[in-house]
Amino acid sequence: MLRTHTCGELNKANDQQEVTICGWVDKVRDFGGGIFIDLRDRYGVTQVKVDEDLPEVLDAAGKLRSEFVVSVTGKIRLRPTGQDNPKLSTGEIEVKATQLTILNEAKTPPFVPGQKDLPNEDTRLVHRYIDLRRQKMQDTLVLRSRIIKAMRDYCAEHNFIDVETPILGRSTPEGARDYLVPSRVHHGSFYALPQSPQIYKQIMMIAGYDRYVQVARCFRDEDLRADRQPEFTQLDMEMSFVDSDDIIGMIDGMMEKLAKDILNIDLKLPLPRLTYDEAMTRFGHDAPDMRFGVEIVDLTDLAKKVDFRVFRSVADSGKFVRAICVPGGAAVYTRRKIDELTTFVQEDFGAKGLAWFRVEEDGSLFAPIAKNFKPEELDEIKAATEAKPGDLIMIIADTWEVSCKALYGLRKRVGVDLKLYDPSEMHFSWIVQFPMFDHDADADRWNAMHHPFTAPLDEDLAALDSDPGKARAKAYDLIINGYEAGGGTIRIHDSETQSKVFGLLGMGEQDAKERFGFLLDALQYGAPPHGGIALGIDRVVMLFAGLDNIRDCIAFPKTQKASDMMTEAPNVVDKVQLRELAIESTVEDVAEEEA
Ligand code: AMO
Ligand code: AMP
Repeated sequence: MLRTHTCGELNKANDQQEVTICGWVDKVRDFGGGIFIDLRDRYGVTQVKVDEDLPEVLDAAGKLRSEFVVSVTGKIRLRPTGQDNPKLSTGEIEVKATQLTILNEAKTPPFVPGQKDLPNEDTRLVHRYIDLRRQKMQDTLVLRSRIIKAMRDYCAEHNFIDVETPILGRSTPEGARDYLVPSRVHHGSFYALPQSPQIYKQIMMIAGYDRYVQVARCFRDEDLRADRQPEFTQLDMEMSFVDSDDIIGMIDGMMEKLAKDILNIDLKLPLPRLTYDEAMTRFGHDAPDMRFGVEIVDLTDLAKKVDFRVFRSVADSGKFVRAICVPGGAAVYTRRKIDELTTFVQEDFGAKGLAWFRVEEDGSLFAPIAKNFKPEELDEIKAATEAKPGDLIMIIADTWEVSCKALYGLRKRVGVDLKLYDPSEMHFSWIVQFPMFDHDADADRWNAMHHPFTAPLDEDLAALDSDPGKARAKAYDLIINGYEAGGGTIRIHDSETQSKVFGLLGMGEQDAKERFGFLLDALQYGAPPHGGIALGIDRVVMLFAGLDNIRDCIAFPKTQKASDMMTEAPNVVDKVQLRELAIESTVEDVAEEEA
């Protein structure tokens, strides 16, 4: 070992001890009477003092610049009174250097880890090795490692077996595009990187392994957002002889442990559960942030009675008039701000407009549209929304979908604008009983809401034939603070139902056989009832770390355009390599087509 101690562990108790520490130069300060060096490693920072009595060491110290890697040997001594730094665990001592070796020099870095104002994210990603030296990044990666360990420990305690499944495999659909890998041996054939290990873990159940877990890398070529990466990590689990309650209970227990071990929070179990319908009705979304109220109120029946043309015509045509009441919103949302919100719901969600009422001090409702309502109708709106003086009622009249999206968007915005919740609070819940399918109007066909292997609720089995849109699934999503942190389902375990669902999804018998013949076969050789779940580890880390960007929870993340800025992947490969794979690039043709 080149060192006796790390830069984070020395304190008063080590007084007079001879030590050697290694690390990066965080700061050098030359005071004339000697040089102070803050030496940093991942454990902390230790102050090194080079006194004038050792000219050779002083000379070496004089050459130090930010981020040089050095080794320092010397004796620990207490800092002179008044020079303690109570913020550091090492703040009471310093190392009086007797030997200083520069292990490696560093070019002037584009930024230093301790810098208050961070450079833009591109710079951080290009020089990720420097960015990763930052305290916050190190804390997050340590947290990530602890979370994964706690998850693995929990699974091991509950008899789960860790199994690795292939990365080079056949496409497993989770609703995104596949990343394909050309085969050199089978020209014209491709492996698909797994969107999830879904089918393999189901096969493990058929094979009798009973409880499977994997920290699994998944690949999805989809449009990226702040909470999505093209490659990400799941805690992927599957269990046999279970129903939804068993999986939910298992994850409840895991969340209780994580919350306690990582955040020292006591979760109350069982975690609350809402059906999908309830979530859409109350919050307009299937992953609502439930750290605050502001629930949606339905005014459709009322709207059928009023003269106001906008409400009346929408309600009479079978659509919906729904509202939220923003506590204290009247003062915050001026006319100009309401105009902004109107543009927001129009542009982002296709709403036609935004109707609103301000509740005045005397309790009356004020709005330009108020003249279209009778006093008792205004009273009804106020009563239904439970509005109080100072509140602002916002109303969307539209289809169910548009009203859900627009009111969800508004609710999210007012939650932030009015600071309606404590950002450090953690709220865990389940959304259950999702629809089996959603309808793709353009293609006039059903899409699987989760994936095609999901079982319907027993009581909705018949609906697969009569009214697929009404069939609900044995599906459950874990929601933390308005993010989908995990999702899973009980699976279909007989080949007949599986074939029927493939059919509903527009997959003909031949097509299904070609793509999933092996699964349909396997289901006929003794498949136990089974189900599972996958937690998005990157998202869980993001939420536990209180961050709002998934890239900050991943050592080497990709940008919104799916590139790695440090290695510059993806990159053009040479023609020889392509020829071996029997692949020809049509980049020029594509560029021409796009132009
Ligand atoms: P699902 O597709 O819901 O389910 O994924 C499970 C969880 O993985 C996380 N996740 C992502 N995280 C980061 N970037 C992405 N692009 C991304 N996509 C998903 C989410 C999500 O809740 N095979 C099923 C699970 C099962 O049925 O057992 C599946 O993959 O947190
Ligand atoms: P208009 O009569 O179209 O000028 O609309 C009168 C008011 O109702 C305006 O404040 C509009 O923003 C609002 N409004 C119009 N259409 C809708 C709608 N579909 N839902 C809610 N408010 C609407």
